[in-house]
Amino acid sequence: MSGTLATRGLSFKEPLIFEASTPGRTAHSLPRSCNDAAGTVTLPDGLLRASAPRWPEVSELEAVRHFVRLSQQNYGIDVGFFPLGSCTMKYNPKVNEEVARFPGFAALHPLAPTGWVQGALKLYWELERYLMEIAGFSAVTLQPAAGAHGEFTGLRLIKEHLTHTEGTPRKKVLVPDTAHGTNPATCAMNGYKTVAIKSSDHGVVLPEDVARAMDEDVAAIMVTNPNTLGLFESHIAEIAAIVHAKGGYVYGDGANMNALLGRARPGDMGVDVMHLNLHKTFSTPHGGGGPGSGPVLVNDALAPYLPVPRVVRGDDGRFSLTSDRPLSIGRVKAFFGNFGMHVRAYTYIRELGREGLKEASDMAVLNANYLRVRLAERYHVVHDRACMHEVVLTDKYQRRDTPVGTRDIAKALIDEGFHPPTMFFPICVHNAIMIEPTETESRDELDRFVAAMERIDDQARLDPEPILNAPRLPIVGRLDETRAVRQPILRWQPDGE
Ligand SMILES: Cc1ncc(COP(=O)(O)O)c(C=O)c1O
Repeated sequence: MSGTLATRGLSFKEPLIFEASTPGRTAHSLPRSCNDAAGTVTLPDGLLRASAPRWPEVSELEAVRHFVRLSQQNYGIDVGFFPLGSCTMKYNPKVNEEVARFPGFAALHPLAPTGWVQGALKLYWELERYLMEIAGFSAVTLQPAAGAHGEFTGLRLIKEHLTHTEGTPRKKVLVPDTAHGTNPATCAMNGYKTVAIKSSDHGVVLPEDVARAMDEDVAAIMVTNPNTLGLFESHIAEIAAIVHAKGGYVYGDGANMNALLGRARPGDMGVDVMHLNLHKTFSTPHGGGGPGSGPVLVNDALAPYLPVPRVVRGDDGRFSLTSDRPLSIGRVKAFFGNFGMHVRAYTYIRELGREGLKEASDMAVLNANYLRVRLAERYHVVHDRACMHEVVLTDKYQRRDTPVGTRDIAKALIDEGFHPPTMFFPICVHNAIMIEPTETESRDELDRFVAAMERIDDQARLDPEPILNAPRLPIVGRLDETRAVRQPILRWQPDGE
């Protein structure tokens, strides 16, 4: 057990170098460029500090070790299995990084004249076309910086369109109880009231429930498909027809598109507008909250409202930018969005091609079903039938027979060398354990994960204490998660500063 963790670099317990500061020790030898030949400081008085900053005083070697050690204490997809359901923590191919670092992309200035950046504009334009083809829509913006930002933008398009055509944005948006929290937040930010639609016992939205809630005050329904239970919303076309009949729109939360590539297109199912998460389906990094990308795809009716500027191709094949779109909602992001992510997603799509993308989704679904069947021997599977890209379990059997629950299972997985799955989500499932293996894991790795889950179940039944006290191998054990959220301490500060 510990061997696995040690090789995954999680078991360092050395003191952090910030606490090991030694007066007078230094890691730099910068030229004294602010001093004149006589050694007198030449900076203006107003810019000089009265006292030296209380930074940790360490040697170069200590500073290097500090940061390298920190990097080794971190856990990421390049370190091990990361089955975080709903987050599609898929492998980020290194070729994406290499292409994104080409100077012609990485060193571009966003204000460079369009005549100088034809290659970048071509990539942008082609990526738009690939995404439209993959998802079945007629226009797209690449500007939004995340899925949630895409949702905000997409619902805003509906709002503008309704205001323009009906003179009112309407008042309500229907949101199933399986939705990601960003969906109701998006409604609130756009000034809509959220109306929750309860999913059926089979885990999907039923047309009759939508019909009951649907009236002429409803602007849209937001449907995630496959939903966060990992199930395909099989009534989507019927639901879309019900919503359209009353003049409403269907917002597709396309965060789970990793299950559908090359197999089904939301645009063909009656969805009017949808975001994609490039940092999920198209393998760009989630990177420490760093840049993401949430393109928004629309049908013809909503296209005039898309953000500007738009990239257009002239008859001569040259690309330019236009903001001549009178109905546009304007910009939602500086410049063109996170262009480096567009380069990576473009590379991924070109690398895999039509068949490769389809295979990626097939494997993601196969892997999730493999885990569902293997884990069902020990864990309660909420909907034990074919799932899509993820499967939701609970701690029902462990709670019935032992003091161990969802949180303990997740913490014990850390000691086994795995990142925990998503816990307690979706919130419509009590004590959910949501597992999304993605397509790139081998059967060996999935078997190792199953074996770890089985060991945890065995241990819970035999002697639960170690599970209740897990994790014991990382440098921090159980954190006060509520306090961490409410009173975040995001940087080290010396006492008294
Ligand atoms: C179903 C669903 N919708 C929306 C989002 C929000 O996306 P983002 O985290 O990029 O803002 C996520 C994120 O994982 C999601 O799973």
